[in-house]
Amino acid sequence: MANQKIIPADAPVAEKLLGWVDARFPASKLWKEHLSEYYAPKNFNFWYFFGSLAMLVLVIQIVTGIFLVMHYKPDSNLAFASVEYIMRDVPWGWLVRYLHSTGASMFFVVVYLHMMRGLMYGSYRKPRELIWIFGVGIFLCLMAEAFFGYLLPWGQMSYWGAQVIVNLFGAIPFIGPDLSLWIRGDYVVSDATLNRFFSFHVIAIPLVLLGLVVAHIIALHEVGSNNPDGIDIKDKLDDKGIPLDGIPFHPYYTVHDIMGVTVFLFIFCAILFFAPEMGGYFLEYNNFLPADPLTTPVHIAPVWYFTPFYSVLRANTFNFFFLEAKFWGVMMMGGAVVILFFLPWLDRSPVRSMRYRPGLHKLILGVFVVAFLILGYLGTKAPDPIPTLIAQICTVIYFGFFLAMPWWSRMGTFKAVPDRVTFDAH
Ligand code: HEM
Repeated sequence: MANQKIIPADAPVAEKLLGWVDARFPASKLWKEHLSEYYAPKNFNFWYFFGSLAMLVLVIQIVTGIFLVMHYKPDSNLAFASVEYIMRDVPWGWLVRYLHSTGASMFFVVVYLHMMRGLMYGSYRKPRELIWIFGVGIFLCLMAEAFFGYLLPWGQMSYWGAQVIVNLFGAIPFIGPDLSLWIRGDYVVSDATLNRFFSFHVIAIPLVLLGLVVAHIIALHEVGSNNPDGIDIKDKLDDKGIPLDGIPFHPYYTVHDIMGVTVFLFIFCAILFFAPEMGGYFLEYNNFLPADPLTTPVHIAPVWYFTPFYSVLRANTFNFFFLEAKFWGVMMMGGAVVILFFLPWLDRSPVRSMRYRPGLHKLILGVFVVAFLILGYLGTKAPDPIPTLIAQICTVIYFGFFLAMPWWSRMGTFKAVPDRVTFDAH
């Protein structure tokens, strides 16, 4: 008990209790290191709300998921009806289900904006490479989590979406057909598939996701947060070794984040109570029909957050090296996510933040974002010739952004980066 604090005999009970805990578990130490004495840059802006919001949505998803599992039946004969039962008969079941389905889409809204912040301020650059890598791992897990979860209501889109995606693995040479059979556990999507997807959705992926989120935050607190100026606040310390431009996370940012949470919850509740289907984007209309293996829907499209990557998949219509177009489409779709891992080493710019970069960089980032949004839109539409051509152009822009980054990120005239963060008290 080397770090035991001497507590006076007449100290309040609460202080004595904390002393008892601290002698056995580093409660106060953790509180100080990660909250009251974690110094964050004082110039955080709007874009810095999304990390805490992602944590909030994660908690919403876990809590509502626990209650859904109490009434949901992972059985192909009962699943669809059990979801209808939750919606109609379970007290407040409709609310829990809509919180979870709206939460899934809002998770991606928040995470895409969180990643956008990283791109704008160079938050993935040294020494924050691991924060970014854990983040991309989280993004992969989120996609897997959403994909497995989408089969569970056992509606038409659940069924046929899973059929299309699992069949994609069949395009891999030699092992493809066996691999998709192995994933499904049957020759078609069936009860066996539903059971394993359920298992992955409720326990396997959430465990990995939580582990990665903890690693993400530990890595962040090891090196400290970046900020809109892209300056290391640890370079300018006062005589106590505290960053001159840092403020304690608690109470300053805990209170600040309440404001972000409030605005977010207004938007979240507006969708939840007035448009939970969001015009078919958050809950697809075809999924209100029970899965029917004998009737393929005319148009199968994934939920909006997958559509940029789905467009990349469909963009390749050419056969290369005796391998069919589908195989290369699958490779490109996978590559579109995997390339994110390499971002810290592709960016060679002498400064982190877009604020001090040439106009050319801002333009390139803008074109990339627009191309990504167009890909997302086209992924919801049928693959007619003109949209396919546009998707091909946007796919080239998407990959070009990353692959040409070592060159364009060094081009142009950079602005002088200030010594201290820019901050106007408000
Ligand atoms: C469950 C999902 C996630 C959670 C709960 C989460 C949580 C957080 C939190 C609380 C912060 C600190 C506050 C902030 O800077 O906003 C943060 C920072 C960061 N996150 Fe995430 N994150 C998630 C996903 C991601 C993803 C998918 C990426 C990127 C692929 C990512 C990249 C980063 C980076 C680079 C930082 C440092 C930002 C900076 O210091 O400027 N995160 N994250």
